[in-house]
Amino acid sequence: MALRITVIGAGYLGITHAAAMAELGFEVLGLDIDLDRVRALGEGRLPIYEPGLADLVHRHLAGGRDSTGRLRFTSEYEEAAEFGDLHFICVDTPQERTGFATDMSKVDRVVDTLGPLLRRPALVVGKSTVPVGSAGRLAARLAGLSPVGADAELAWNPEFLREGFAVADTLRPDRIVIGVAGDQAEKLLREVYAVPIANGVPLLVTDLATAELAKTAANAFLATKISFINAMAEICEAAGGDVVQLADSLGHDERIGRRFLQAGIGFGGGCLPKDIRGFLARADELGAASALGFLREIDSINMRRRTHMTELARAAVGGSLLGRRVAVLGAAFKPDSDDVRDSPALNIAGQLHLQGAQVTVFDPKGMDNARAAFPTLAYALSATEAVTGADVVLHLTEWSEFQELDPLRLGRVAGARRIIDGRNTLDPEAWREAGWWFRAMGRPTL
Ligand code: UDX
Repeated sequence: MALRITVIGAGYLGITHAAAMAELGFEVLGLDIDLDRVRALGEGRLPIYEPGLADLVHRHLAGGRDSTGRLRFTSEYEEAAEFGDLHFICVDTPQERTGFATDMSKVDRVVDTLGPLLRRPALVVGKSTVPVGSAGRLAARLAGLSPVGADAELAWNPEFLREGFAVADTLRPDRIVIGVAGDQAEKLLREVYAVPIANGVPLLVTDLATAELAKTAANAFLATKISFINAMAEICEAAGGDVVQLADSLGHDERIGRRFLQAGIGFGGGCLPKDIRGFLARADELGAASALGFLREIDSINMRRRTHMTELARAAVGGSLLGRRVAVLGAAFKPDSDDVRDSPALNIAGQLHLQGAQVTVFDPKGMDNARAAFPTLAYALSATEAVTGADVVLHLTEWSEFQELDPLRLGRVAGARRIIDGRNTLDPEAWREAGWWFRAMGRPTL
């Protein structure tokens, strides 16, 4: 009989994983303790924006027209325990309120609630990003809580998906990593991922600790790449070089590669910033703090980008932001997402507001989340409306629609033709030719 799968946590990761499992042909039950969310999902309404995800959910949602009916949602753990041969843990692990450590309370609660209900052999598979060592601890806890003891096995299968590409990353990942300790895990997970494995996706079977580290180390490396090029942007500004050309040149070296060398206002979102901090905190607990000392520098280079952007904006309007009108293009932490968690764009907008500027924000998808996070800022219905009357325009999230803005047309409504590109994706020539004072990060001022 085909495996039946539960996915616990219907957030960004959980919804994507649940729908992907249904796409691979399995019967899937998604679980979330938020009743409103479960009800909305049951009616095909998604709490997040992610390209292609709504279609994938609709294709499989039980009760939907022309759907396979393989995907359902519930808030009942009893039902999930009864239903699943495999249970994927997809709850979030945010940064703790005090300090850098990772808040594991949601993952712990899943194991504590599900464990005692597992009355038949089952595999619990963690996907959330956790401090190394968590899986070993949770495996022992699960076996202790479950009526079937060690037949309730735990494995770790980190998720590497990027927001904006979640569906493709889940169905066609670069690699699948599974950390196993017991007998059943590898066999069952090979069955779950049989299609991608047959399609050539590399499978790495490791111990639990290595699987946990596979995720944190990847994120630490990506963050390091971004902060490295942003450090080069600081040097370029001091020396008069051009960081975009520098990144192109570095990128041609195949050992380095051009991706993740986009200098600008730095990284944000629900993963990279909190994951490098959680990694630092964990290394400290392990007595290995010195191994990751460099990540502190990666974090501070990144945070300096935000301050630097506010300073550039202040300088652009003559030294004081008080009462000056600033148009902020972008609120989401990256394009093709409505996620504003630790968004550099919104953080900069907030800093400018605190310094007395009248800030008007526009984002194609992130407006509701931005309003909820920063209700004191003003919000426009379009980029043109945000720019109208502005003393300076800040391009802070590189949505494709911002790349297509017409500098000539915008020049007619702007209060002053001044723009700062915080992502180095606009064409300086086009804006300068249209009469704009154009400033980028780590590039010559002219
Ligand atoms: C990241 C990892 O890429 C993914 O593998 C992991 O599973 C979760 O964390 P995500 O947070 O969706 O994914 O976004 P990502 O595309 O990595 O971008 C993170 C941040 O870095 C964004 O704010 C982005 O704007 C910024 N960034 C990215 C840069 O500033 N420069 C770059 O060159 C690349």
